[in-house]
Amino acid sequence: MAVRGVLIVQLMSLTLTIHLLAVPGELFKPFNVSYDHRALIIDGKRRMLISAGVHYPRATPEMWPDIIEKSKEGGADVIQSYVFWNGHEPTKGQYNFDGRYDLVKFIRLVGSSGLYLHLRIGPYVCAEWNFGGFPLWLRDVPGIEFRTDNAPFKEEMQRFVKKIVDLLRDKKLFCWQGGPVIMLQVENEYGNIESSYGKRGQEYIKWVANMALGLGAEVPWVMCQQKDAPSTIINSCNGYYCDGFKANSPSKPIFWTENWDGWFSSWGERLPHRPVEDLAFSVARFFQREGSFQNYYMYFGGTNFGRTAGGPFYITSYDYDSPIDEYGLIREPKWGHLKDLHTALKLCEPALVSADSPQYIKLGPKQEAHVYHMKSQTDDLKLSELETLRNCSAFLANIDERKAVAVKFNGQTYNLPPWSVSILPDCQNVVFNTAKVAAQTSIKILELSAPLSANVSLKLHPADQNELSIIANSWMTVKEPIGIWSDQNFTVKGILEHLNVTKDRSDYLWYLTRIHVSNDDIKFWKERNISPTVMIDSVRDVFRVFVNGKIAGSAIGQWVKFVQPVQFLEGYNDLLLLSQAMGLQNSGAFIEKDGAGIRGRIKLTGFKNGDIDLSESLWTYQVGLKGEFLNFYSLEENEKADWTKLSVDAIPSTFTWYKAYFSSPDGTDPVAINLGSMGKGQAWVNGHHIGRYWSAVSPKDGCAKCDYRGAYNSGKCVTNCGRPTQSWYHIPRSWLKESSNLLVLFEETGGNPLEIVVKLYSTGVICGQVSESHYPPLRKLSNDYISDGETLSNRANPEMFLHCDDGHVISSLEFASYGTPQGSCNKFSRGRCHATNSLSVVSQACLGKNSCTVEVSNSAFGGDPCHSIVKTLAVEARCSSTSSIHFSV
Ligand code: GAL
Repeated sequence: MAVRGVLIVQLMSLTLTIHLLAVPGELFKPFNVSYDHRALIIDGKRRMLISAGVHYPRATPEMWPDIIEKSKEGGADVIQSYVFWNGHEPTKGQYNFDGRYDLVKFIRLVGSSGLYLHLRIGPYVCAEWNFGGFPLWLRDVPGIEFRTDNAPFKEEMQRFVKKIVDLLRDKKLFCWQGGPVIMLQVENEYGNIESSYGKRGQEYIKWVANMALGLGAEVPWVMCQQKDAPSTIINSCNGYYCDGFKANSPSKPIFWTENWDGWFSSWGERLPHRPVEDLAFSVARFFQREGSFQNYYMYFGGTNFGRTAGGPFYITSYDYDSPIDEYGLIREPKWGHLKDLHTALKLCEPALVSADSPQYIKLGPKQEAHVYHMKSQTDDLKLSELETLRNCSAFLANIDERKAVAVKFNGQTYNLPPWSVSILPDCQNVVFNTAKVAAQTSIKILELSAPLSANVSLKLHPADQNELSIIANSWMTVKEPIGIWSDQNFTVKGILEHLNVTKDRSDYLWYLTRIHVSNDDIKFWKERNISPTVMIDSVRDVFRVFVNGKIAGSAIGQWVKFVQPVQFLEGYNDLLLLSQAMGLQNSGAFIEKDGAGIRGRIKLTGFKNGDIDLSESLWTYQVGLKGEFLNFYSLEENEKADWTKLSVDAIPSTFTWYKAYFSSPDGTDPVAINLGSMGKGQAWVNGHHIGRYWSAVSPKDGCAKCDYRGAYNSGKCVTNCGRPTQSWYHIPRSWLKESSNLLVLFEETGGNPLEIVVKLYSTGVICGQVSESHYPPLRKLSNDYISDGETLSNRANPEMFLHCDDGHVISSLEFASYGTPQGSCNKFSRGRCHATNSLSVVSQACLGKNSCTVEVSNSAFGGDPCHSIVKTLAVEARCSSTSSIHFSV
């Protein structure tokens, strides 16, 4: 990936050197990992580590190398992932380590790029993942109670954790074998629910620790959010801020396993965004206050493909507002600003690892410094020439949410913006402030691919001549039967719990019973002008009632009372219920007991002779949809369905399958499909389940402008108000063929398939805004620092760095002004001061290039356009795919 033109030589980067020494078959020269009170000790040296959370099944193996590479280039030392038990053992004893679950391949890729791996085995993972990662069959183990001192659970948990540790050892993936695995995790945030389990919870956690340590992994184990973690396990912090966190023993280091750099979203909700200034602040504060391992949850969030989303109600996208977006593209300014932060932190690493603890200096009521002094050469740690050059690093924090403050430190004055940290690798010169963003802003676009290959079935949609939709007459349709469709149904007395019947093989479960209605009842309702009513104590997640094949009503929620007036005919009536799970519970205590479907009594009220209790009636059960079980979505078997041509009059239609073929947009850009015209259902491409879709709209309000200052929470900075939470769905490139890609949808509520469009996703607009007062780029500091005697105080000028996605170049410049430009990305305007050659200087440097650098200085623009005023360079440019560029200035 050619994001930054110049490779940053990371100071103290052991990964590179070790990497080079590995013998064939090994990814690294074998090394040991231990820890002390200050940090993880890798091959005998303390390290400050930046970790990037990436969940392998939320991407495709084809996407992994690029995601890992972008994480590395962004400054990560470590990749962190959970292990997803229900993906690896969907049926008891039958393991799956293929495709998106090819854990060994993923770990090898991490190692071969020179990064370490922190594997969080769980096997409970939470993670907004279906059932928190537990396989559904685990509920059926006799006598089982999850996550407590329960023999059947412990036996199954141990079997799986051991399976993974053995796999890592067999494949030589531990660091002491020359692999990248440096650390593991067992359980996940058990401390949050431990009290629900009383003494048995405490016993359980002791057992967990002993069990894990007994598996011979020979690397440190972590438990997150676990104050009572045994002495042999590192307890770590999760949250938006973890500065001030202390481990439960002074001999353990301070680790942050989940820094929530964004948040997930639910159907019908807004989309959360965490401002990068606040995120960088949280990270800098953590290292300032003695933290030594920090992981971004998530660095790449990805997609909940298929039915892997947990919940209930988590959307298919798990973008998370991460530095690498759902499609694998860099999100700016998040990625770039964090990269700059990581580079600054690496400059401090020698002092940070050397000092046992920092010196604390109060600078003001809400301002403080932490100073890390290098131990002297006589100490046991041998210092290199470089390290002795900088024997002190400092962090200056202003935690005031409103005011910028000038503080005095080391005899100099430093201006600290509100809610920010300045980093001084030499205790004198600021190289980075968390609130000063020099990284570019990128705006993503979705556009049609032009030209498209020959046999494309596409038409221009009249509503938007720029949109390409799948041609109307290529659509086929078939109805899904309402109710019982197979001889696999069965009839029993009473209401069965949903998951006990479906075993989560499908979201859907039909319940059918027959109601006899007398003429007296009909008269009774007419006379009083009332309707009989279906009353159910409690239902979840999506619940529908049909009478005689027609929908009568529905409810959405998590254990809500269901009250629905219905119309019956005289004689026998079919009363049909459809319970639908929208992602199984993934958090909280006792999740195995939660179940789905119906709870409590179900009755019919309003009958002449009183209420009819249906709780003990005979009910016929049918799991799933006919189309699901007959594979209407698969390439091999879709022809088995009785597809007919879709006519426009048949739209909208409920409980309907649709299929169409489309050609892949050309090129290598990520592909997205807009299902915003549809109602609710599931979608498949070439047999791959791309996920659930739903056009549930988020509330209209709450999207007010966001201020980075002050403590973040997931409701603070949201976008997408009044719009469907998710309209675009990722179709991974590797699931597509050049042409004749089969798209199959199951639609529950209506919607118009004719408006579905497939588009390319890329960075379309980039903007930079860098002023003379910004800090010069840190990449200048690598080797020059020693060889040329460059110090932090005699550095070059600030620079603007701009980049497009891979395979794209800067095709036009919409705006460029060196002077006092006003506004922000997409709405820049010239100020009073403007260097007339701004556009030509920037064009010369950038046009036609994938990335470019422009110095922000008077000399770069041929002289000072306005004396004694701080000048800023603002640029807005467009990126285009190299296959379709048109230059225009
Ligand atoms: C944490 C949990 C993660 C994830 C996160 C929210 O509490 O450990 O797995 O669920 O919350 O995204």
